[in-house]
Amino acid sequence: MGSCWSAKVKHNESRLHTSSSCSASVPSTRIPLSLRSEDEILQSSNLKSFAYVDLKIATRNFRPDSFIGEGGFGCVYKGWVNEQTMAPAGPGTGIIIAVKRLKQESFQGHQEWLAEINYLGQLEHPNLVKLIGYCLEEDHRLLVYEFMNCGSLERHLYTRSSDFQPLSWNLRMKVALGAAKGLKFLHSQEVEVIYRDFKPANILLDSEFNAKLSDFGLAKDGPTGEKSYVSTRVMGTQGYAAPEYMSTGHLTKRSDVYSFGVVLLEILSGRRVLEMKRSRKEQNLVQWATPYLQCKRKVFEIMDTRIEGQYSSSAVQKIARLALECLCVDPRFRPNMTRVVAELEQLQDPALGSSRSGSGSSKISEPPQISGSGKISEPPQISGSGAATGGGIGAACD
Ligand SMILES: Nc1ncnc2c1ncn2[C@@H]1O[C@H](COP(=O)(O)OP(=O)(O)O)[C@@H](O)[C@H]1O
Ligand SMILES: [Mg+2]
Repeated sequence: MGSCWSAKVKHNESRLHTSSSCSASVPSTRIPLSLRSEDEILQSSNLKSFAYVDLKIATRNFRPDSFIGEGGFGCVYKGWVNEQTMAPAGPGTGIIIAVKRLKQESFQGHQEWLAEINYLGQLEHPNLVKLIGYCLEEDHRLLVYEFMNCGSLERHLYTRSSDFQPLSWNLRMKVALGAAKGLKFLHSQEVEVIYRDFKPANILLDSEFNAKLSDFGLAKDGPTGEKSYVSTRVMGTQGYAAPEYMSTGHLTKRSDVYSFGVVLLEILSGRRVLEMKRSRKEQNLVQWATPYLQCKRKVFEIMDTRIEGQYSSSAVQKIARLALECLCVDPRFRPNMTRVVAELEQLQDPALGSSRSGSGSSKISEPPQISGSGKISEPPQISGSGAATGGGIGAACD
């Protein structure tokens, strides 16, 4: 299992694209995304090709105070462009964009840059972040997205600060539903798309807390025809990958469903999937929470104390059951995203759905300013292979 695994494992898997992917042999009315050449990808998309100098001006030379986030492969900066011409504009004028600059000048970095253009250049949905354009100039690889005012779900779940309101129960349910709809859309494509990196840092929120999936660097065409899975080298983020994918490299859309279950647990508990500073018993959220999820009376003990009193017992019991099903060790017993969406729809606050501000019981506040190094940390690292084995969940799947 995952000898190549690290906190965020992203390896060169081009070899596997050609030799192990099962999607190549089956005809489809749409060309599987992974079969397109780089030229085809860049030419066929409706994306704008930006000049590097323009993005430099738009972000004020990638100044530290334009920095808005960082993931495994790049730093993201805020910038301004003219809405019509997309030419750089002064701060506070035109529209705001988010510019991701790949920091790795590696083959893998380039492949991930291309994967984002490939998928986001073709797929449009209210729950996927909109990619506006890209830049390819000498060693520079950049991506230009719509700016998401409220930042990532990770920031909202884990920022502890007196001037930052925790997400209310109603907003948590809204975000869970939006993200679930994004996955459902990907899974229902004729050639299904497996997202492969579902986690709070990749779920972005607009000013009304609509959730949109971003970061398609690891997305992959699903299996087609006779095949039931795609075989790949294990990639993703530790703690979120499904146990069968970790141990065999067999990838199906049910791997995304497992990751969804992990995120649902984070949303309910306000705890990160791996927290090494906790006692040993509590370091792995899935292992710690599973016995509570299995018991109707005890399930309340995993809930984020900051949202106490905002939910009904039956709603918590329903969503705990759903999380447990998503986390089944045996992927056959996990629900599909269509069912997940249907169940989450029943837990929505009708008032929130129609409200422009999405106020619920939590004040919507601007994301906090990032201070110091400005780094948004990835989930804590764990050495060795002792990650999400999902131990003990099987019993709940009967
Ligand atoms: N469009 C956006 N609007 C606002 N913030 C963004 C946007 N895109 C990315 N970010 C911020 O940057 C972080 C890293 O972005 P991501 O696309 O996940 O990069 P990576 O591919 O390096 O993981 C996100 O977690 C989020 O905080
Ligand atoms: Mg990311």
